[in-house]
Amino acid sequence: MLVEWPAQLRMAGEFNGKHVLDVGCGTGNKARYFAENGAASVLGIDASAGFAEQWAGHATCSNLELAQGSFETLHTLLQLQHKRFDLIVCYQALMYARDLDGTVNALAQLLLPRGTLTISVPHPFRFAILKGEIEGWQHGFAYQQTQPYRYPSPWKPDLLLEHAMPRISDYLNAITSAGLHLTACEEPIVTDELRTASPEKAAWMDRYVGIIVFQTDLLSDRKDRIKDGT
Ligand SMILES: C[S@@+](CC[C@H](N)C(=O)[O-])C[C@H]1O[C@@H](n2cnc3c(N)ncnc32)[C@H](O)[C@@H]1O
Repeated sequence: MLVEWPAQLRMAGEFNGKHVLDVGCGTGNKARYFAENGAASVLGIDASAGFAEQWAGHATCSNLELAQGSFETLHTLLQLQHKRFDLIVCYQALMYARDLDGTVNALAQLLLPRGTLTISVPHPFRFAILKGEIEGWQHGFAYQQTQPYRYPSPWKPDLLLEHAMPRISDYLNAITSAGLHLTACEEPIVTDELRTASPEKAAWMDRYVGIIVFQTDLLSDRKDRIKDGT
């Protein structure tokens, strides 16, 4: 959290008075942060029944709503009918989408004309390095293997995680083909402060890079089409 959250927050940009959607919100804690720190309203969505069971503690936060749903069913969710958002965040979840291009396109369609979509994902180099260590593959070869891969969670090694392994170009092409424009990109680095505060995290990042964050907005012709209702 010393590295990821500050970068995710920076790339979310100004959210004061805005309507925010957090897709793949997990515990709902980041959605709650936006709700308690100036957002007009926040809707968090996550596919996991396990996380949904933990959301009761957020009930006291009046401008925060949490709902169960998945990338694949966004268009069917009642909470999203006739809704558009100023800010959509999708943190460390998009790699689980079964259809990356379709999901980014669905998220783009939920943006208001001046809206921002911020996406953070595990850095694709991380998995090239990890697959190199596990399978003995060379990093270039490992990086090009985009099919779903199962690996132990770094935080809970007895838990196996499995998802697609998009490359940087796969994320960028999903962004551009959804009619979005990349406004900023951040790959948080290991600072001296981090080395002192959390040497284990710094060592982990020295080995696996960390995350990459994309900040996007709608290309102007798409903004115009939304304004015109076409
Ligand atoms: C690593 S967690 C990130 C949680 C949160 N965004 C954060 O940054 O702390 C990944 C989240 O993606 C969710 N997820 C996985 N597959 C999903 C899907 N198909 N649709 C929506 N969320 C999904 C998981 O339930 C989990 O909460």
